[in-house]
Amino acid sequence: MSIDLLLNRNSAPMLIEPAPSGQALQRMFQAAMRAPDHGNLKPWRFITVEGERRSDLGELFAVAAAQRNGNLSTEQLERLVAQPMRAPLLIVVVASPVEHAKVPQIEQEYAAACAAFALLLAAEAEGFAGIWRTGDNAFDDTVASGLGLTKDEQIVGFLYMGTRRGGPKTVPEIDLSNHLSAW
Ligand SMILES: Cc1cc2nc3c(=O)[nH]c(=O)nc-3n(C[C@H](O)[C@H](O)[C@H](O)COP(=O)(O)O)c2cc1C
Repeated sequence: MSIDLLLNRNSAPMLIEPAPSGQALQRMFQAAMRAPDHGNLKPWRFITVEGERRSDLGELFAVAAAQRNGNLSTEQLERLVAQPMRAPLLIVVVASPVEHAKVPQIEQEYAAACAAFALLLAAEAEGFAGIWRTGDNAFDDTVASGLGLTKDEQIVGFLYMGTRRGGPKTVPEIDLSNHLSAW
């Protein structure tokens, strides 16, 4: 992997067709399966949502939000329904932790998050772009069960994937001094 890819990775909030598909998408999932993983448990899974299913997911978001807050306006609910239409492909990254004598659940969640990041990097390597989103619906039982998650699983994120609209962001110079020390 080129260091330039890592140094310049950035999220794309505006995504259009085409979405990664076919061999490119398979390679992205294979790359994600190489996430660091204590115990080689692969405690994650991916759910793709595209086409009309995106509006079904939007409806699920709105139903869940209305259950959490009965005072939402029609406009707010419509915005939620439209949310998944912001990209041609969504990948729901799910942590599926198991009981393990040596690998606590939090480490399995870290591994699932690494798999999510690997998917974003792999998307860029394949010439696509994406953004990791969560929000209240990522932590909602109605959304989780609507997506078919078990009680032990959690949504790590909704990866919105597609082709970047417009040019890449300029990546800022970052001062490392608050993040790096020698012990
Ligand atoms: C766990 C997690 C959840 C996030 N949730 C959201 C979100 O709901 N909405 C959002 O706009 N950005 C969210 N982000 C941040 C974006 O994915 C992105 O990193 C941020 O906009 C900064 O852009 P950059 O990646 O180009 O630096 C989340 C990031 C992570 C790691």
